[in-house]
This record gives sequence, structure tokens and C-alpha cells, in this order.
Amino acid sequence: MPDIRAVVENVMKKNQRSVDSNFYTVPSIERYPFQWLWDSCFHSLIYLSLGHHTEAKEELRSICKKQHQNGLIPHISFWHEPNKPLPNWGRELRGEDINHIFGVTGSSFLTQPPLIVRAVLECYKETDDIDFLLEMYPKLANFLAYLKLNRTFKDSELLFIINPDESGEDNSPRFDTALNLTAVQTAEQSLVKRIELMEKMVVCDFDTKKCMQNYFSIVDVGFNCIYADALEGMIELAELLGEGDDVKKYGDILDLLRADIKQTLTTDDTYFYSLDCITREQIPVNTWNLFMPLYAELVDESAAKKLVAILFSEETFWSQFGVRTTSASEPSYDGRDGFWRGSIWAAPHWFIYKGLQRYGFNKEASILKAKTLKLIELSGMYEHYDPLTGVGFGAKDFTWPGLIVTME
Ligand code: GLC
Repeated sequence: MPDIRAVVENVMKKNQRSVDSNFYTVPSIERYPFQWLWDSCFHSLIYLSLGHHTEAKEELRSICKKQHQNGLIPHISFWHEPNKPLPNWGRELRGEDINHIFGVTGSSFLTQPPLIVRAVLECYKETDDIDFLLEMYPKLANFLAYLKLNRTFKDSELLFIINPDESGEDNSPRFDTALNLTAVQTAEQSLVKRIELMEKMVVCDFDTKKCMQNYFSIVDVGFNCIYADALEGMIELAELLGEGDDVKKYGDILDLLRADIKQTLTTDDTYFYSLDCITREQIPVNTWNLFMPLYAELVDESAAKKLVAILFSEETFWSQFGVRTTSASEPSYDGRDGFWRGSIWAAPHWFIYKGLQRYGFNKEASILKAKTLKLIELSGMYEHYDPLTGVGFGAKDFTWPGLIVTME
């Protein structure tokens, strides 16, 4: 049996990069040769668990170097040759195309879930580095201010995303109807639609609120649950820094957000669904996001029990190798070729693991951990896995399964 920490160390080391004194880790050398926002947060947590404190902090520092003037932290930072399109990612606007608006070269103009607050907090807890905290706190505050200003509707704290990629789940079936795609589709069809949305952003002159929300605006459960957790994190950080006004400010937003999530995204306080803000309809597609309210501690104990029962039901989410990203009961379910449409990914395992622990389902959490371990032992560190065979799909030597070392 391989030493898992050594396996993780090896992939993390291979994927490390340094450009102009900016340190970062690519999720996969061949497929994802840049820096991604939520990936870097996973990396930071992995480095902390491996005892690499400097790398954990540097990874977050570099992602903030590309923060836009308006506060957005981009979902991709292109450290290499910012103005030269690379194969596969030529679709992204970068460099001078967006420079005139954001004063940043070499980044995307989309974002990803704000897991960075949790990552910074964990760095501080592990290292006691108050200077790091002082350096990062204003950047986090600006990011959350960007989200609040540009991604909320009147009288609500819920955040909307303007492209499926912002959820981190590029072609999840949650977005099919909004993209005018059928349940059975190809990855290419989804990509074409998502690029069209990026082009619309240019037409909108990058204005999300007045313009872009008319093309695609979804209040995504996962994104908002991670935001709720980020607000908790900001309260803790503000307390540590003695920023009393901020403690109150983030506390007030969090209270309203929790109430808005419950009022808008669920009718029964158990099953939460994303909302399409254009049609004003909930999106009743069963993906692993059903379990994100556990991570954000939004449900009561009896609802949590119901969710756990569904999690372990083989007709829906549970498989021999762990949790399917889309329920097997959905017409869109595709555990083989479907990217986020059924195959198993390490990050969902991690969020669900944390959620289970937060509700005291420790036995269930350890089962999930064991499944994650088994996948790595069987196939190595892959982007996603077949729920029936555990065979790895997509990017090889992909960093996310390294989250196993943080599952304590
Ligand atoms: C894929 C994933 C996204 C991730 C990126 C880099 O696009 O869907 O969540 O950030 O790869 O790993």
C-alpha cells in the first residue's frame, strides 16, 4: 500500500511553479497549466497539512496579486505569457483585453467560490503569523465587497454567478436549462455556450449587474454556502484583528444571508436548490450541492439525517467508490464521460466530509475518507473517477485528491 502523504507530496512538488517570485501550484501540468482560485485554496490547505507553511501562504498571496481594482479575485491567473493564447485556454480573455477595465494583466474576469477566507484563517491558525493576516485581510474584505456590490439583487444578500465556471462545476446539469441545453449533451456543446457567455461579458462592458445578469444569473447553492462559511471566517478574522465594526458588519450580512437562503432556495428546509434569477424558478436538479447546506450548517438535525440517508442511497448518490456528483436518478447522469455529471471528484468529498463532521456524523465521514483513500490507492491522483470501477478520468496527477491529507 503506497504511503499516501508521499504520493500527495510528490504530485504537489511536481506541479509547483514560480514566476517572478510568485509561487503557485498548477492543478495539472498538462491540462491546467495556470493558477485557479479555489484550487489554490485546496492547495493551501493541503500544504498546511503537509507542514509546508510557506507554500500554503505563498499560494494565497500569489492568487491575490491578480486581484482586480474592483476587488474581484479572478478564477484563473495566467502567469505565463499573459497575452499569448495557449491551446485549450485560448477561449479566455486575458491580458490587454481586460486590462483597460480592471488594470490587471493575465487573468480571467470570472471568479470562483470564496473559499480563500477559510484558507487564510487556517493558515493563521496553523502558523500564528499575524503579519500574513494583516496583509491578507484587506484583500479578502475587498473581494467580499466586490461580491456584495456586484453580485446581489436588491434587498437580498444572495450572490449570483454569471457563468457556470464560477461555481467551479463547469458543466454541471444544474446549468443545462439556463444554457438552453438538453440533459444529454456533449462537453463541446456546453463549452460553446459558456464561451458565448464570456463574449456577452465584453458586450456588457463587464457590467455584471446592469447587463450580464440578463444573460445568465444563477444563485447557486454551493457558491452561497461557501460564501456563508467565508462570512463566518471574516467574523473570526475581524475578531482576531480587533476590528469590532467589521465583526458586526459581517455578522449582520451572515444573518441576512442565512435567512435569504432558507427563504429562497428551499421550500422544506431540507432540500436546497439553486435559483435561476432570469426565470425566477428553482432548478430541481439533484447534484451533490444538496449536501452543501451541511457544510454551511444551514439545516437542523432532522433535515441533516434525511440528507445523510440520501447521500448513502445507491439509487441516487452513493457508489462503491463514494459520492456521485449528480444523482444516478437524473436523466443527465453520466458517470463516465460526464464532467461533473455523475463521476466522483475529490473536492465534493472534502466539502461533504467537513459537513458531516460539523453535524457529528463522524462514522459516515470516516467512510467517505476511506473511499477517497481507496480511489487514490487504486488509480492515483486523478481529476475525477468512475463511480463503478474507480478508474481515473481527465487530468492525471491532479492536485485535488491531495485533500485526503486534510481529512482528519
Ligand atoms: C475544471 C474544474 C474547476 C477547476 C479547474 C482547474 O475546470 O471544473 O473547478 O477549478 O478545472 O482545476
